[in-house]
Amino acid sequence: MTLSQDPNLARQRKDDHARLALDQQTEAKVSPFDEVRFIHHSFNQTNYDRIDLSTKWANHKHAVPFYINGMTGGSDFTKQYNEKLSLVAAATGLPIATGSMSIALKDPNVIDSFTIMRQNNPDGFVMTNLGAHHSLENAKRVIDMIQADALQIHVNIPQEVVMPEGDRDYSMWLKNIEAMVQELDIPVIVKEVGFGMSRKTIQQLIDIGVENIDVSGRGGTNFVTIENDRRTKLDLSALSNWGQTTPESLIAAAPYQQQVNLLASGCITDFTHIVKAIAMGAQAAGMSGKMLHFVNELGVDQTIELIESWKEAIQLMMLLLGVETISELQEVDWYATGNLNTFANNYSTK
Ligand SMILES: Cc1cc2nc3c(=O)[nH]c(=O)nc-3n(C[C@H](O)[C@H](O)[C@H](O)COP(=O)(O)O)c2cc1C
Repeated sequence: MTLSQDPNLARQRKDDHARLALDQQTEAKVSPFDEVRFIHHSFNQTNYDRIDLSTKWANHKHAVPFYINGMTGGSDFTKQYNEKLSLVAAATGLPIATGSMSIALKDPNVIDSFTIMRQNNPDGFVMTNLGAHHSLENAKRVIDMIQADALQIHVNIPQEVVMPEGDRDYSMWLKNIEAMVQELDIPVIVKEVGFGMSRKTIQQLIDIGVENIDVSGRGGTNFVTIENDRRTKLDLSALSNWGQTTPESLIAAAPYQQQVNLLASGCITDFTHIVKAIAMGAQAAGMSGKMLHFVNELGVDQTIELIESWKEAIQLMMLLLGVETISELQEVDWYATGNLNTFANNYSTK
């Protein structure tokens, strides 16, 4: 067993992640989505009553174009968050993912911290989550534990590198993912964890048959900072701006928009970010750190109210932009400013 698989250490790590991620939410941040601007047009033919928020990804039609991304579970402390998040998902119809269920494969005592998400949300779209070092067999086990509708596989090399007990061998990741895509009878979504994706990465995933990709970019929860805070020696904070932002990743992914379902998470902290991410090619946008913050600060009922208000706000923005469907929203005029514009003009596949 490697250090990263030790159940005691893993439980502690889950608690550290939630605590440190919540601390990050209280820091003032500039959003990379500020550099995405819409072009205003003075006339449009849109009727509010015809606006349809539904979208399709992972072989499923979803009523709402945003979702709660993989975060917690694996300890008593994080079970409380999974309980709250799953109640929010059940009430609002948002798809939801568990945090990595790796720990549940080693420690049966923590399985209920994940299964509570299915109990609270029996009819919802619930995804399970594992790291790319796992075997097909492990993927089948966690899928069964929560009767998952889809499997998220996370790829997180920067986090593993900075994590004191992190994995140091990533040589089998693409092969493992390929086996899961070929053998599983539910959709596989490959996601980053806040470092974004390059065009090369997306091409590699398409080459092995992946059809759903969550670029999960930089700008929100930062796992280099979180893992560095868990270190007692060798300060690696100089790596804290590693990776591409979510808008940068969507620009990199744009040529593949017709070939795969692109999902956008990473620094989605208000409804305008959801609309911008979709305009940049995503089928839907995922929230993690900010959603954890909402259930922590507001509780379940107020978070549900907030999400319902966001659905209306997204419809109003679609009215403003002159579109009635998510696929029309993917075609609206926008432009990049500042650093994002520099990225768009200089990005190469190298
Ligand atoms: C407390 C916490 C725990 C997380 N654990 C996982 C995990 O187990 N598996 C995973 O794929 N991503 C995990 N993530 C990463 C998120 O799914 C997401 O990719 C990343 O946080 C960027 O989104 P954000 O800026 O909205 O937080 C975690 C995020 C947070 C905040």
